[in-house]
Amino acid sequence: MLPYASSMISSEQVESFRRDGFLVLADLVSVTACDELRAAAAAILEDFDPDAVRSIFTTDEQTRHADEYFLTSGDKVRCFFEEHAFDDEGALQQDPALSINKIGHAMHDLDPAFDRFSRTPAIAGLLHGLGLADPVLLQSMYIFKQPRIGGAVTPHDDHTFLWTEPASVIGLWFALEAATIDNGCLWALPGGHQHGPRRRFRRDGDGGIAFDEIDDTPLPDEGFVPIEVDAGAVVVLDGLLPHGSAPNRSAHSRQAYTLHVVERDAHYPVDNWLQRPDLPLRGPDPADSPFVGSPA
Ligand code: FE2
Repeated sequence: MLPYASSMISSEQVESFRRDGFLVLADLVSVTACDELRAAAAAILEDFDPDAVRSIFTTDEQTRHADEYFLTSGDKVRCFFEEHAFDDEGALQQDPALSINKIGHAMHDLDPAFDRFSRTPAIAGLLHGLGLADPVLLQSMYIFKQPRIGGAVTPHDDHTFLWTEPASVIGLWFALEAATIDNGCLWALPGGHQHGPRRRFRRDGDGGIAFDEIDDTPLPDEGFVPIEVDAGAVVVLDGLLPHGSAPNRSAHSRQAYTLHVVERDAHYPVDNWLQRPDLPLRGPDPADSPFVGSPA
């Protein structure tokens, strides 16, 4: 019995998604599923050697470390530190498990628990209900938004980073814990997706990365709205919708999981930063699991 039919999303919700560029669905996943994913992420951190690689993730292009560790993470499971995890001497300022910004970018294809969370009838039904013809799961990220040091995510749209022709990326942002203004919830610009792409992030052909400026119209400073949600909710984001989040200065983490989905038939440029040379793209249906038929 499917928990949601493909018509789980009403025509009013589809209309509001097209108008606003985002949609909130409460209770798309159970609290138990959220807890299981948090445990799976904790297990990845437990196996991670913080001294082996210290790669810092930031969305500020001035300081983005476009290192090989990041650029080759599209088909792997890797951990990225918070920008402010280290002191001036390069020592971690708090426990390693409280110093990681995110895990990325292919857990949904490489980790059975992430695969289970990412491929469900509810997610498949949602994506088909939104009108995607043949959605494939391109990228996964587990975002910790750590207490006190959880960094801001500057306003951006996801199409900039996951470019397809035509634009097709949809973001699914799952709240694994309550997200509030206090702990750094998402903010988005309603209707902002109707502006075309402003820039494109790509490989520069020289081992680094670059932004192509497409439209220098600045993002407005005002009009962003907070999206406060409880654990189990999903925020669906149009790929062209400007969104971001403030730093988390509170004592509470704000863990979230994101899946970025594209149309299989859309052209995916070879100079997109994220490449998956060894992983075929798979859909959101449980039957598309890479673990189907393999021993438990
Ligand atoms: Fe994003």
